[in-house]
Amino acid sequence: MRLSRFWIAGLIVSVAGVTRAADVDFAKDIQPILEKTCLKCHGPEKPKGGLRLDSKEALLKGGKGGEVVVAGKADESSLYEAVTLPKDDPMRMPAEGEPLTKEQQDLFRDWINQGLKWPDGLVLKAPASATKPAEPVDPGVAISDAEKAAVAKVTQLNALALRLAQNTNLLRVDFSLQGKEIKDDDLTCLKDMANLVELNIGNTPVTDAGLAHVKDLTKLTRLQLHKTKITDAGLANLKAMHNLQSLNLYSTEITDAGLGHLMELKNLKRLYVWQTKVTAEGAKKLQDAIPGLYINRGHEAEVAAAPKEPAKPEEPKKAEEKKEEKKEEKKEEK
Ligand code: HEC
Repeated sequence: MRLSRFWIAGLIVSVAGVTRAADVDFAKDIQPILEKTCLKCHGPEKPKGGLRLDSKEALLKGGKGGEVVVAGKADESSLYEAVTLPKDDPMRMPAEGEPLTKEQQDLFRDWINQGLKWPDGLVLKAPASATKPAEPVDPGVAISDAEKAAVAKVTQLNALALRLAQNTNLLRVDFSLQGKEIKDDDLTCLKDMANLVELNIGNTPVTDAGLAHVKDLTKLTRLQLHKTKITDAGLANLKAMHNLQSLNLYSTEITDAGLGHLMELKNLKRLYVWQTKVTAEGAKKLQDAIPGLYINRGHEAEVAAAPKEPAKPEEPKKAEEKKEEKKEEKKEEK
């Protein structure tokens, strides 16, 4: 009996002890959150909302909306409010990714309440991984005259031929906007594009004969063939595309037999076969051959229940959005 009384007394003492927040250690508790979670948007380059969080001076200066912290008063600090907002609130910080944990939120609260301790003159830096792309960009190969001519041909057809990024020769070609006007023979020039890695022929009347023109494009990582006239036999042309990661066959006549041609594409990660004749067994067979492959077959159950169409995988963007994208990318190219 006596023992248990001591126990209870002890508990009460320790519970009372925790109500006073422990001293926050800036270097251990706050700095890592700022560096890892906030600085990629609130660093020295184009800080979002005009707010930099890499020095104490910048923090106290605040952003476009004025000051974001009041030393000693977390309740009056918009920074604390921003990190405690619900996940779907547009002002929630960080603006992307997972919200801070309850523990991290409390650390911000206590840090503000304890007077915003920040070692004199300390300027924070985002870790390299947050600012630089994880992998170095593949520069591609030198652009040959034949490739230049092919790009000109594609552009003449009013299709898009764009570099993936400024610092690479790698190309993306997109015929889906021109749709109906594209003919099988228009694809002959593609074989000269040594830098072609992403190709969209979706929404065009291209047939197996057209696919024969792309069969040597072994660098392709992404190929979109949705809503074309291709058949199972045509997929034999994809056999050598060992770098292919994403393949869209949505709304074509493809069946399980066609998937048989894809068994060796070991890098394939995503395959879209919604509105095709591919069966669950056919998909399973391919998944057994390619570990880690995700196959999207749509939602048959939903289709059966309601005529309304479920969200389509990789549905081409509306023409207007595309135009915007085109403009943007043109800008980027300069
Ligand atoms: C993905 C980018 C991004 C990340 C990461 C991010 N923010 Fe922001 N933040 C923004 C944008 C964008 C705004 C401007 C929002 C607006 O004004 O509509 C903003 C605004 C703010 C503001 C209000 C500034 C003002 O004066 O209006 C605060 C405070 C803030 N962020 C704190 C944080 C904190 C703390 C973190 C890290 C936990 C963080 N943000 C992480 C994008 C980000």
